[in-house]
Amino acid sequence: MCGIVAYIGEKQAYPIVLNGLKRLEYRGYDSAGVAVLKNGNINTYKKEGKVSNLEDFVKDKDITGGIAIGHTRWATHGPPNDVNAHPHTSENGNVTLVHNGIIENYDSIRKELESKGYTFKSDTDTEVLCYLISDIKTNTGVKLGKAIRLALQQVVGAYAIVVMCEDEPHKIIVARKSSPLVVGIGKENDFYVASDATPIVEYTKQVVYLNDDEIAVLNKEKGMKLYNIDEVQKEPYVEELELHLEALEKGGYEHFMLKEIHEQPTSIQDCFRGRLNAKEGWVSLGGIKYYLNRIMNADRVVMVACGTSWHACLVGEYLFEDLARINVEVEYASEFRYRNPIINENDIVLAISQSGETADTLAALELAKSRGATILGICNVVGSSISRLTDAGSYTHAGPEIGVASTKAFTAQVTVLTIMAISLARRKGKLNEAKFRSILSSLEAIPKKVQAVLDKTEKIKKIAEKYKDAANALYLGRGSSFPVALEGALKLKEISYIHAEGYPAAEMKHGPIALIDEEMPVFVIATKGTSYEKVVSNIQEVKARKGKIVAIVTDGDEQVKAIADDIIEIPETNEHLVPLIATIPLQILSYYIAVMRGCNVDQPRNLAKSVTVE
Ligand code: AGP
Repeated sequence: MCGIVAYIGEKQAYPIVLNGLKRLEYRGYDSAGVAVLKNGNINTYKKEGKVSNLEDFVKDKDITGGIAIGHTRWATHGPPNDVNAHPHTSENGNVTLVHNGIIENYDSIRKELESKGYTFKSDTDTEVLCYLISDIKTNTGVKLGKAIRLALQQVVGAYAIVVMCEDEPHKIIVARKSSPLVVGIGKENDFYVASDATPIVEYTKQVVYLNDDEIAVLNKEKGMKLYNIDEVQKEPYVEELELHLEALEKGGYEHFMLKEIHEQPTSIQDCFRGRLNAKEGWVSLGGIKYYLNRIMNADRVVMVACGTSWHACLVGEYLFEDLARINVEVEYASEFRYRNPIINENDIVLAISQSGETADTLAALELAKSRGATILGICNVVGSSISRLTDAGSYTHAGPEIGVASTKAFTAQVTVLTIMAISLARRKGKLNEAKFRSILSSLEAIPKKVQAVLDKTEKIKKIAEKYKDAANALYLGRGSSFPVALEGALKLKEISYIHAEGYPAAEMKHGPIALIDEEMPVFVIATKGTSYEKVVSNIQEVKARKGKIVAIVTDGDEQVKAIADDIIEIPETNEHLVPLIATIPLQILSYYIAVMRGCNVDQPRNLAKSVTVE
């Protein structure tokens, strides 16, 4: 996600926009830019890196004026650099805009515009939208507002945009679909625009939250006019802001981690965007489409990562082997890089990393590359070192993950791995049409099912209260829920400092069962599926030794409910997709236990968000 800020009125616009961008840097910090409209001329300044880089860049420039639009970028198309930074301007220099979201059909629109003779400067989908609006305005003679509407009717995807143009210098026009946009009503017929209320609240508490398919014209002389996509004018609904600045940056949540836990229905949905359609029966990962045959014909796929990302690899192993019958080995990157592994040119080495900067993972990839393997990546940060090193890869599009404990990045990684496994299985003829469409439909239903679990937060919080003082904890799971057990244990220990271990449920008998006593909470993923009865037996073994059982079960489960101390019910889904849902209650449990223990949830002791050193 990106951050947008704009101002139109009698004040100096640039300082308002610059400060607003600084407040929105949590939404993305790859590059930043501002465009100022003065005396019918638009001047644009933009730089790679944080907002402070932009501030330094414009220090000696004339950036006075009462209209400005600004942007801080989280790259989705095109690496972070000056050219790809927003704002983007049409080829004739007349139209300039900033955008938050993803234009899924930008490639076909770009090709059409190129056939008309346009040449693009950047790799972004945003520049394509800007050119399209300008092309319509120039060739049909309509005013900016109409040109924007006509352009947006051709667009598939998500957008929040602010548009200005030189020959209509008294207005800015905003529009949204799926990406947030707020208009602040100033006291002097002036207007503030931002991706959320954070940059606005210090100037006004009167705000209008745009709804999907709404367009607003903000005019210095004529005020605000709100329309729907069919040009029907609407009365803006003005609300009174209650939140304080600090809370606003976290979207009203107490911590970034909680906000990111609750973002998962959206982040998983964004991970799908443009990559699958159950109704039409297709799945496609553009970033690796030219490598699918090589993956299928490889001797093996070696997945390398650290921490939570390593747990995602383990889920990937179950998916690739069970669905696509592709041989997978999962390696800690830190071990792989030093143990002189046997690697050859028929191997695929796939690195998974949220930050794309983890030193051990990067080194493991460099080793694999030096030995001739094909190297692929799954990263969340566009243009990161790992994404730049790999031959190809896929981005998770989870948006910035600020909390040190990874949550939405994990489910996004598992989502990409699931899409890869389904795509490969289909290509290898391991999934017939019915099963293919069925698992795609089940995958498309995941965001709603994740939301259903998030709606049980208060119940889960009560369970957290019961176990917040535990000294140790055990997490158990079978099949692809075993990596979920490992991930649940890691979440608990890294933010609450309670010692926790994850195990395959069957392994408990080979040692850990000696730890069980009435003080030991045992969190078990016991959802319906192949090994359900065996997990129930493991639960009985714990109960026989007075252990406390907190079970994650499928909605309506009565059998485990009768024996467990606490249960958390999650919606039923295809067994391969259980990790995407079963992880959620474990994230929520660890969050509230940590909060109740007074821990620094977003920045736990001794940890860093990205371990860029060995
Ligand atoms: C997970 O909650 C931790 N923050 C940590 O284990 C993390 O997953 C690990 O350092 C790998 O980071 P990466 O995904 O950015 O490579």
